[in-house]
Amino acid sequence: MAKEAAVSVAQGDVLAMLASRALEFVRDGAVVGLGTGRAATAFLHALAARVKEGLSIQGVPTSEKTARLARELGIPVAGLDEGPIDITVDGADEVDPQLNLIKGYGGALVRERIVAAASRMQVILVDASKLVPKLGTRGRLPIEVIPFALPLCSRRLKELGCQPTLRIVEGKPFVSDNGNVILDCAIKPLEDPAALDSEIRNIPGVVGTGLFLGTAHTVLVAEGGTVRELRREEA
Ligand code: A5P
Repeated sequence: MAKEAAVSVAQGDVLAMLASRALEFVRDGAVVGLGTGRAATAFLHALAARVKEGLSIQGVPTSEKTARLARELGIPVAGLDEGPIDITVDGADEVDPQLNLIKGYGGALVRERIVAAASRMQVILVDASKLVPKLGTRGRLPIEVIPFALPLCSRRLKELGCQPTLRIVEGKPFVSDNGNVILDCAIKPLEDPAALDSEIRNIPGVVGTGLFLGTAHTVLVAEGGTVRELRREEA
């Protein structure tokens, strides 16, 4: 179970409040993984303001969209060759009591996982609506698939009890930064997310799932004008 620590913060926009709290984890000289989505975008703006004030960091983006915004905001952008990432700040779509996550509603799950794996610490920013008793409560699990493998992956996912729908954006299949498509799978709350994750990853053509198990060190939760800090307890 996660420890909770209540932290009082000034009133204001929920995402800006989370972003400002996340900045406290960023040290001068750090390599910082830059997430994708609304919460991560709020963090980028807060980080850029610090960079303008003289904070020296290198940002490693989890998507082309984030990379573009980081450059526009004046955040130095680097790749994984900068070495270990000190901290990554990202959003999530679901957070369970053990701080396992579902991510990928924004379609950047594969690079988000790579950057998380290269990071010493992952800090997740959410509002309380993302806290769930079991992963799958919101009913959707994104899975990135190589287009050639789509029919096979769809069939196998159905056999596993998931109901895949190809993600369509503006009338066309959504294409990830890696040139792949996304299957949004209808799921029920999961009794054993690790087992399902392993079965899905075994399907040829699956590049990644939105199940992020054991990646988050800290989750900052905005709730009623305050930020709660949830920390993973080390095993
Ligand atoms: C992007 O692929 C996602 O994993 C996002 O990080 C996640 O969907 C949370 O996004 P929001 O902060 O926009 O809710």
